[in-house]
Amino acid sequence: MKHLLCIAAALFVFGSFSTLNAAESFDIFRPSLKRLDDQPRSAEDQAKVDLGRHLFYEKRLSLNSSMSCNTCHDLQRYGVDGEGFSKGVPGELLGRNSPTVYNAYAHIAQFWDGRATTVEEQAKGPILAGKEMGMPSSAEVVKRLKAFPEYTPLFKAAFPGSADAINYEHVGSAIGAFERNLATPSRWDAFLDGKKDAMTSAELAGARLFVTKSCTTCHAGTLVGGQAYMKLGLVNPWPNQKDQGRFDLTKNEADKMSFKVPSLRNIEKTGPYFHDSSSVKLEDAIQRMGKHQLGLDLSAKEVADLAAFLKSLTGPLPTDYIKPRPFTTTGSGAKFE
Ligand code: HEC
Ligand code: HEC
Repeated sequence: MKHLLCIAAALFVFGSFSTLNAAESFDIFRPSLKRLDDQPRSAEDQAKVDLGRHLFYEKRLSLNSSMSCNTCHDLQRYGVDGEGFSKGVPGELLGRNSPTVYNAYAHIAQFWDGRATTVEEQAKGPILAGKEMGMPSSAEVVKRLKAFPEYTPLFKAAFPGSADAINYEHVGSAIGAFERNLATPSRWDAFLDGKKDAMTSAELAGARLFVTKSCTTCHAGTLVGGQAYMKLGLVNPWPNQKDQGRFDLTKNEADKMSFKVPSLRNIEKTGPYFHDSSSVKLEDAIQRMGKHQLGLDLSAKEVADLAAFLKSLTGPLPTDYIKPRPFTTTGSGAKFE
């Protein structure tokens, strides 16, 4: 009996050690992701978020009132439209895949090449981009917003100190304020926070593989990416060399084929994959990452385990937060998708 107890105690100690070690090796992903909108906000900050939500869904911010941010970044569909390449107002295909807006606020910078620093700065781009929402100028956007009576009280509440509350800077900062709460923690975060049974053994095997195969060289931190620029095709050249990534921005040779390492949060839901949409299936994307970034030929089992881990990064959508709200002041009436 005593003997048996000893074995049980040894198993217990060993068991807890191994979980401890496994947990420790995941420090590279800490801190866990938290939703921010559970925390109380000042009335002014809340008003900014509310205005930003309206603007995110506002189709009249596009030239022919046909598309909003949500058209290409559908919040009900994990912030993407599922297309290889989205079409803007003129109907032409855009040059890069539309990334998700979920968790984007926490990236080092915005866009595949990082050309905008913050979500606030980024949000001012697509409205005026000819191939996207196609508005002719920021002055025209402001003129429109001033003509919709429902927006006047919203801007005033969000920017109470401003004599000229409806201006283009404020459009960007309100949309950004809304985007800063598009965080999607998942079971993985519960696990990182100590809930040991939050992940299945296959998912954990995948997480360990993700570390041991060195995916974490590039995809690390809270968002499992989003924190660095790296060459696509580091070991084996990427077949599609048309888009040279950051090089087009910096003209620095070292930046050829350099792209922002994407966050892998919700990756299961945001295909097709890569800036050039060249992988439709997640398993294919994983296989190609092994080959081009690491020079590895991953087995089918390894790919399946890695995919199981990546799928555990899918968090529930913040359904209430993203729900379009009616305007309280009646105006010309906004149509939502
Ligand atoms: C016609 C489709 C389309 C519309 C409309 C659109 N976007 Fe995008 N968005 C894209 C594409 C494509 C990219 C990537 C472009 C690139 O990296 O060069 C992008 C990138 C982004 C990013 C960067 C995400 C990341 O991971 O780097 C954010 C944030 C974003 N858009 C928010 C918005 C907001 C806010 C609006 C509305 C003001 C908007 N988008 C309107 C297609 C669109
Ligand atoms: C040397 C850096 C590096 C390594 C190592 C690496 N990746 Fe990536 N990963 C990137 C970059 C850069 C991109 C974006 C490429 C682009 O422009 O499309 C990317 C994209 C991805 C995508 C598609 C993301 C999207 O939103 O379309 C997946 C999935 C992915 N990586 C998984 C992995 C896995 C799994 C591993 C390990 C087997 C891995 N990566 C190793 C740098 C890396």
